[in-house]
Amino acid sequence: MKKTVGTIRVLLCAAMLTASCGNNEGTNTATTTDTMQNNTKAGVTQADWGEADGKKVMLYTLTNARGVQVKITNYGGTITSWVTPDKSGALSSIVLGFDKLQGYLDKPPYFGALVGRYGNRIANATFTLNGTAYKLAANNGKNALHGGNKGFDKVVWTATPATDGTPALTLNYLSKDGEEGYPGNLNVTVKYTLSDDNELGIEYTAQTDKATPVNLTNHSYFNLTGDVSNTILEHSLMIDADRYTPVDTTLIPTGKLQPVAGTPFDFRQPHKIGERINNVPGGYDHNFVLNDTGTSLKRIVTLSDSSSGRRMEVYTTEPGVQFYTGNFLDGSIKTSDGKPINKHAALCLETQHFPDSPNQPQFPTTILQPGATYHSVTKYKVSVD
Ligand code: GLA
Repeated sequence: MKKTVGTIRVLLCAAMLTASCGNNEGTNTATTTDTMQNNTKAGVTQADWGEADGKKVMLYTLTNARGVQVKITNYGGTITSWVTPDKSGALSSIVLGFDKLQGYLDKPPYFGALVGRYGNRIANATFTLNGTAYKLAANNGKNALHGGNKGFDKVVWTATPATDGTPALTLNYLSKDGEEGYPGNLNVTVKYTLSDDNELGIEYTAQTDKATPVNLTNHSYFNLTGDVSNTILEHSLMIDADRYTPVDTTLIPTGKLQPVAGTPFDFRQPHKIGERINNVPGGYDHNFVLNDTGTSLKRIVTLSDSSSGRRMEVYTTEPGVQFYTGNFLDGSIKTSDGKPINKHAALCLETQHFPDSPNQPQFPTTILQPGATYHSVTKYKVSVD
């Protein structure tokens, strides 16, 4: 059953697309019919999507005044699709995702999900805080990854769609004291907002009743061509980072902040991702130390794909970003229409604090104290050149 919350009526193509939309007659893609209909209204619609943990799972569709749509489920707070036009006006989703809940229950590697309580790795699945040693699940070799066996990506969040015609969805989750080994009841709120200029904002807030590490992110996998048959190796990337955190063989930072100059990690000027990837054993899966160390929102990444003309800019308040080139994708997971998702079929730009911060006191702290509020904002803005 679908329930429409939004109110503003808009015309499909005209407002949605950029200047090139009008040239789009006859162009189509597999996902077009999935999302675009005449009489699209800005706001949020919702549909039943199944059940997990005995709780109802919903799929929400956020539509902006131009008709661009992002779909988000309260299972894992996951972005399941973001359909945007390419330079000829053809529509396809630029993120990996499934059209049924089962795809997510099969545990894909965090496709589109909210990741927490601690995104990225904690060495040896342990940390000490205020004299107490905490033991976490070792779910990535000997290390802890992305919140544990059942992190925030695998729980059902309470969702509140905006009712005023704004394409916005607020998700809430109470992570109990001791859950996945972490101390403190952590009350987390995440608000997704889609602006009319196709900017998807994610605002995270959290409070705790005991000191705890917190590092929240979104794990969307992007492919700006909108087709996973293409790798992301031809995408051009710019990252505003003079340094990165080199890692050991288990992807735990060595503790150094290494200059990118003269290395394949130097993306201060745009480079094709495939240009130097063979010089990075295993592919890119590294945290970049962003140059602007302040907590204000700054542009940190520009990603572009000349074949589709799509461009994505990333803004964040975080000090780091994990650039991951889908190195562990191996074709075993298929899209909803049956295409294998191969190595390098998509990339992640996970805004974050640095991996293993609870064990590396020289890194910016990730410890949230009772009485304080965790606040973090990231925006992904997509446009067409
Ligand atoms: C993160 C990690 C990667 C990998 C993916 C999920 O990006 O840094 O090493 O674990 O998540 O497969």
